[in-house]
Amino acid sequence: MRTLLSEDELKAGVQKLAQEIDDHYGSRPLTVIAIMTGSLVLFADLIRSLSMPQRVGVVQASSYRGGTASGELHVDNAMMIDVRGRDVLLVDDIFDTGKTLDRVSSMMREHGAVSVKTAVLLHKLTEHRVEMRPDFVAFEIPDEFVVGYGLDYLDMYRNLPYLAVLSQTEVDATAAETAT
Ligand code: IMP
Ligand code: MG
Repeated sequence: MRTLLSEDELKAGVQKLAQEIDDHYGSRPLTVIAIMTGSLVLFADLIRSLSMPQRVGVVQASSYRGGTASGELHVDNAMMIDVRGRDVLLVDDIFDTGKTLDRVSSMMREHGAVSVKTAVLLHKLTEHRVEMRPDFVAFEIPDEFVVGYGLDYLDMYRNLPYLAVLSQTEVDATAAETAT
C-alpha cells in the first residue's frame, strides 16, 4: 500500500479543519452529525478539537455496496438526534460524487435545521454528480481509491492510522480473502 497522508499530516490537517470551523461558528452552539461509518475516526478527533458547545449525533449512509465504485445510496436515520432550529454541521470522510452529503443535507433541512454545512477530511478531485460542494475540507486528493483513518474497502482498513492508496491488486486480494 502506498501512503498518501501520514499520521502527522492527517493530524495537522484535522487541526486546521477544526480551526476553520471554530473561526466560522465562534461560540455558537453547533449540532455536529457524523455520517457513519467512514467518518468515525475523523469525527472523534474533530469534535474534541472544536471549542463551541456541541450536540453530537450520527446517521448511517452507505453507497459502496461491496465494490470500489459508488452504488445505490442508503440512508438510515434511526439514530438521528433532533435538529429542528439548530445549526448543523455534517461530517464525512470523503466527498466523491457528492451524492451522500447532498442527500443528507436535504434531509437535515427537511427536519427543520436552520443551517446545514458540511466538513470532510478528503475532497476527491473527480467529476461530481451534484451542484453542492463541501464547506470545510482538510485535503484535496486525486481520483484514487483510498483506505485508512476511517475509510474502508469491504469494511477493512478503517483502523489504519494513515491514509493509503489501495491498488487494483490489493483490491482483488482483499476481495478474495473476504470471500473465504
Ligand atoms: P459520495 O456519495 O460519492 O460522495 O461518496 C461518499 C462515500 O463514498 C464516502 O462516505 C465513502 O464512504 C465512500 N468513498 C468514496 N470514495 C472512497 C474511497 O476512495 N475509499 C473509501 N471509501 C470511499
Ligand atoms: Mg461513508
